[in-house]
Amino acid sequence: MNKIIIAIDGYSSTGKSTVARQLADYLNYIYVDSGAMYRAVALFALQNNYLSKNHFDKQSLLMSLPAIKIEFKKEAKNNRADIFLNDKNVEKEIRTMHVSDFVSPIATLSEVRKKLVSIQHKMGIEKGIVMDGRDIGTVVFPDAELKIFMNANTQVRALRRYNELIEKGQNVSFDEILKNVEKRDLLDTTRIDSPLVKATDAIEVDNSETNREDQFHIILQLAKDRIAKRI
Ligand code: DC
Repeated sequence: MNKIIIAIDGYSSTGKSTVARQLADYLNYIYVDSGAMYRAVALFALQNNYLSKNHFDKQSLLMSLPAIKIEFKKEAKNNRADIFLNDKNVEKEIRTMHVSDFVSPIATLSEVRKKLVSIQHKMGIEKGIVMDGRDIGTVVFPDAELKIFMNANTQVRALRRYNELIEKGQNVSFDEILKNVEKRDLLDTTRIDSPLVKATDAIEVDNSETNREDQFHIILQLAKDRIAKRI
């Protein structure tokens, strides 16, 4: 059976990764969380003191780019691919609020985007991939057979993120999360290189009021239709 590429873009905390994972598991496709790659570069910049609240040494980060190795590897314990930064599993570290606060400026850098998009292209060569992010249907895989653009209202998204982080034991306030979501929306949609925008041929899914199970079945049906067309 011919495999396809599924691109899932949209605002933060719209459940892109949940549905992308569900689809990949069901179809036996590879799942790639492209946001994790931008987060890994932000973590690298923070660890090397290139980035802090009042300071961004962009030049040093750009010079270090060739030395940043980003890979996804399966860990036997959970059978899920975790992200590795220079051979270290950073799956947990990249999900903190600290990294969330600093990742958007990193994602505005064209040199960073170029490097990550090139890795993403290689992952999609054999198709059979579900990738989520902000520019997957517009820049990374403009010919993807199925493109989904996910949205939900800001309060709903902030509450989801808040619950997720509280569940993970992080000490955060709802207001802080709401501000972070709003700030990231603004930076993601207004940056010059590859801003978050719905591809003209993407199908928009607003899940402010849809439950995840229903949403999965709607998107799975779309995927099955596209796969059937390629057989
Ligand atoms: O999906 P996420 O919240 O983990 O993404 C982290 C940041 O990376 C977010 O601010 C947007 C950016 N990003 C991007 O610019 N392009 C992508 N393909 C994926 C994420």
